[in-house]
Amino acid sequence: MGQREILTSSILACIAIAVGSAALVGRAQQRTDQPPSSYAPVVAKEPFEQTMARMSKAKAEVMKRHMDLLKERYDLSDRPADRVTMSRGKPVQEGVRARLPKGVAWQQLAAMTSEEIREKDLWPAGFYPLPHPNHPEGGMVFPQSHIDEIKKQTGRDLTRFDLDFDLPDHLLADFPPAIFLTTRPDLGDVSRGKLVTSDNFYELFNGILNPKQLEGLRLLVTPFPQQQFNATEDRRSARPSLGVTCFDCHTNGHTNGTTHLVGDIRPQEFRHRLDTPSLRGVNIQRLFGSQRALKSVEDFTEFEQRAAYFDGDPVIATKKGVNILERASQVHFMAEFMSILDFPPAPKLNLYGRLDPAKATKQEQFGEDVFFGKGSAPSATQPHTIQTI
Ligand code: HEC
Repeated sequence: MGQREILTSSILACIAIAVGSAALVGRAQQRTDQPPSSYAPVVAKEPFEQTMARMSKAKAEVMKRHMDLLKERYDLSDRPADRVTMSRGKPVQEGVRARLPKGVAWQQLAAMTSEEIREKDLWPAGFYPLPHPNHPEGGMVFPQSHIDEIKKQTGRDLTRFDLDFDLPDHLLADFPPAIFLTTRPDLGDVSRGKLVTSDNFYELFNGILNPKQLEGLRLLVTPFPQQQFNATEDRRSARPSLGVTCFDCHTNGHTNGTTHLVGDIRPQEFRHRLDTPSLRGVNIQRLFGSQRALKSVEDFTEFEQRAAYFDGDPVIATKKGVNILERASQVHFMAEFMSILDFPPAPKLNLYGRLDPAKATKQEQFGEDVFFGKGSAPSATQPHTIQTI
C-alpha cells in the first residue's frame, strides 16, 4: 500500500469510533484542494509579515466564533462555592456547567437509557469533545495571567498574534499554584506565592532540594524551541522566540490550563483538544499521556522536546530546534524533581484515600457516596437516577 492508501484506510477505520467527536469538533475544515498528508509544510509559502498580518486580522472573528460555541454549550459564569477553596485560597466554582438541550431537564435524562438519549439526540453538547480555540490551526495557547507574569520575570513573550486563551480565569487553577514536596511535608507550600521561573528557582529552592533535583528544576524552567514559539518564520509570536519551558504549561508543577491538540491522530480535525494536566502525584502513576509509547516520566520528558510531542512531528521539530536531553543525567534529574511533587495535604482522608467519618461533614460524606457509588462507571444500558441533596 502507498502512504496515501495506508492513511486513507486508517482514517476509515477511525471514522466508526471518532465520527461523533469529529462532527462536534466541527469547525475544523478539511482542505479539499490538497491531497491528504501527514506532514506539515517545512518551507513557508509567504513572508512572515504577511502571515502575521493575515492571521492577526482574522483573530477577532476566530475568537468570536469559538466563544459563541462555548457560550452555547456551557455556563461559564463566575459562581464561587461557599467556603470551598484551592490551596492558596482561590474559590472553587460550583454547579453543573454543561447546558441542556432546550426543554430537557436532568431528571428526564436520568430516567432514560443511553440508547434513548442517543436516538433522540438529547446528549448535552457540553459533554462532546471541546474544540481547540482554532482547531484547524491548533498549537499551544497560554492564559493571559501566565503570559503577563513570564514577561515580567523573564522578558519572554508567550503571546500568540493569532489567538487568545478561551476559558475565564475563575475556572482555572490557583495562579501561581502551591507546591508541596513529598520530601519536605513539614514545609507545606514551598512556592512562597511565586511563579517559579529561570529567574527565581535558585533562590526559592537552594537548601530545600538536593543538587540533582535543583538541576532538574533548572531544566524544567529553561525555554527550548517549540512549534508556535521558535526562531523561524513558522511561529505565532511577533518576535523570534527562545521557546517554551516545561513549567510554562505545568506551572509550579501543577497546571495553568494551557491548551493544545493531541499529537497521535491525523487528520487535524480528528485530534482532540488537550488541557495541561497537573504533575502532582506523577510518582504514583504508571502510564503517561495519550501517546502509547510513553511509559514513564523519563520517556515523557525525553520525547517532549525531541519530537514536538504535541504534534508527533520530528520533521518540523528538527527545523525549529530539537533539544536532545541526556537520559542518565538531565532526563533523570528532571524526572526526579517531578516525582517529588506531592498532592496538597488532605487531612480528612485516611491512608486508603477515603474520608475519615470523624472529620468529614455530612455533605462531604454524601459526595463520597456518590463518587464511589452511582457516580462511578454506571452501566451503559441502565437508566441513571439522580439524588437531590
Ligand atoms: C504546551 C504545554 C506543555 C508543555 C510545554 C509541556 N507539557 Fe507536559 N503535558 C502537557 C499536556 C497537555 C499533557 C497531557 C498529554 C497527553 O495526555 O497526551 C502533558 C503531560 C505530561 C506528563 C504526563 C502527566 C500525566 O499525568 O500523565 C508529564 C510527566 C509531562 N507532561 C512532563 C513534561 C515535561 C518534562 C515537559 C518539558 C520537557 C513538558 N511536560 C512540557 C502540556 C505541556
